[in-house]
Amino acid sequence: GRVAVVMGGSSTEREVSLDSGRNVLAALKARGVDAHAIDGIPALLDALRAGHFARVFNILHGQHGGGEDGVLQGALESLHVPYTGSGVLGSALSMDKTRSKRVWQSLGLPTPKFVALPRGADVHAAAAQVGFPLIVKPACEGSSVGVTRVFAEKDLDAAVELAARYPGDLLMETLIEGDELTVGILGREVLPSIHIVPKGAFYDYNAKYVAEDTLYLCPGQEGEAEAELRGLALRAFDALGCSGWGRVDVMRDRAGRNWLLEVNTAPGMTSHSLVPKAAAVAGVDYQALCWRVLETSFR
Ligand code: DAL
Ligand code: MG
Repeated sequence: GRVAVVMGGSSTEREVSLDSGRNVLAALKARGVDAHAIDGIPALLDALRAGHFARVFNILHGQHGGGEDGVLQGALESLHVPYTGSGVLGSALSMDKTRSKRVWQSLGLPTPKFVALPRGADVHAAAAQVGFPLIVKPACEGSSVGVTRVFAEKDLDAAVELAARYPGDLLMETLIEGDELTVGILGREVLPSIHIVPKGAFYDYNAKYVAEDTLYLCPGQEGEAEAELRGLALRAFDALGCSGWGRVDVMRDRAGRNWLLEVNTAPGMTSHSLVPKAAAVAGVDYQALCWRVLETSFR
């Protein structure tokens, strides 16, 4: 049947999603899939009620109309329309970094020390608890939107102000200095890790989507270290109730310990994105990757 590739939407990651979506759409069409672009959740629900589509390839990113936070998944469940990726619980939990971390902590999985900051919290007291350097983020955004690394007390207020521009609580987390790693998951296959080496200070929005000088090493680790990292990523993914596909972001400190940051349940599929790079190293080209993701809706 016809496949709706839902993209765009109304989150801060709209442009990233449109970029991902256009690439996915072209790849599915090239594979002979009767795929069509739909922009955002309201248009998708209208089209589904009119009976236009048999299944949904969800490449929306972000919360609130972003389609990555469980809201869309719930609507699709209630309409009995199959869709790619995680269900309601995995999507909702993964969108909330603070609650993801609590689940991992409760299972003894490593995640950096943190304090959840409700609006109006005493940020200086929280910083004293976490210690510098630290990182301030909105708890429920993606693509590093609103994220600042803070090395000294004097820079704390500006970081909190920036993160507070986005909806939801804030998260203050110990900054792990070391290597940025990510692990893609495709079905039950764990893809080779990627070690991201940004030219600037960290893998921010610019390094993710604009800069051409970010370096990607894949696999990101060797031998036992790579196996350990992949195993941890799959445990982290399963712990949040995720399924289908996704990407687990990790920091590796200078002592070689891995620390879980977050899971992305509708990871970027742009030409700069990570899952396509890891899949290619595993012998899965972009078209085959899109087909494999579509297959996660066959359940
Ligand atoms: N949130 C972006 C799309 C990613 O994780 O790739
Ligand atoms: Mg994310």
